[in-house]
Amino acid sequence: MIYGERIRFRRAEKTDIPLFMEWINDPEVTKGLTIYLPMGLWEEEEWFAGLAKCPQAERPLVVEVPDGDSWRAIGNVSVFNIDAVVRSAEVGIMLGDKTIWNQGYGTETMRLLLKHGFEALNLNRIQLYVYEKNIWAIRAYEKVGFVHEGRRREAHYKNGKYEDILTMSVLRSEWKKEMEL
Ligand SMILES: CC(C)(COP(=O)(O)OP(=O)(O)OC[C@H]1O[C@@H](n2cnc3c(N)ncnc32)[C@H](O)[C@@H]1OP(=O)(O)O)[C@@H](O)C(=O)NCCC(=O)NCCS
Repeated sequence: MIYGERIRFRRAEKTDIPLFMEWINDPEVTKGLTIYLPMGLWEEEEWFAGLAKCPQAERPLVVEVPDGDSWRAIGNVSVFNIDAVVRSAEVGIMLGDKTIWNQGYGTETMRLLLKHGFEALNLNRIQLYVYEKNIWAIRAYEKVGFVHEGRRREAHYKNGKYEDILTMSVLRSEWKKEMEL
């Protein structure tokens, strides 16, 4: 387990598939994600089985919050496209439980993911892509130190409209400086 203040990360299990299905088939959740078609159970199972071939560090982690004596899943995160030479990687977040939105969980999740990326995986650069209209996600990323570094114009198309994709990143030196404050 990887523990934060109010959350923890654990390995995703096969039994999480029905919950993932619920989230990725909810248009409100996927509004800011690349997913734009309904996902079938067999497709999700195929994706999950394929994870066995991914490096362990690139397999998704489930984000959980305490719930009575137990823990409850609220979303997932992943680190992927790890470049061993540059020591860089991409990250992604999906908090599918809408009841916890706008309570700082996205911000805390990204903070813990950065700690994991820099301290456990020894990365030097962590980057992500976000759609320009996902102001909410952008705000959470800015709060944990992600810096805007570029814009791919009209690189995304969803619901009949083109949208720009923003690139944001955090370098280990910037993150360390912030940790020391
Ligand atoms: C995007 C996501 C990570 C945010 O998580 P969250 O827990 O709701 O976000 P937080 O509460 O930590 O922070 C959100 C910030 O955005 C702000 N915000 C929310 N709606 C906003 C809006 N319409 N305009 C401007 N700011 C907004 C909030 O006020 C908050 O900032 P503040 O703390 O300075 O007030 C999460 O909701 C999610 O996973 N959504 C679905 C999938 C997704 O879009 N993933 C990101 C793909 S790049």
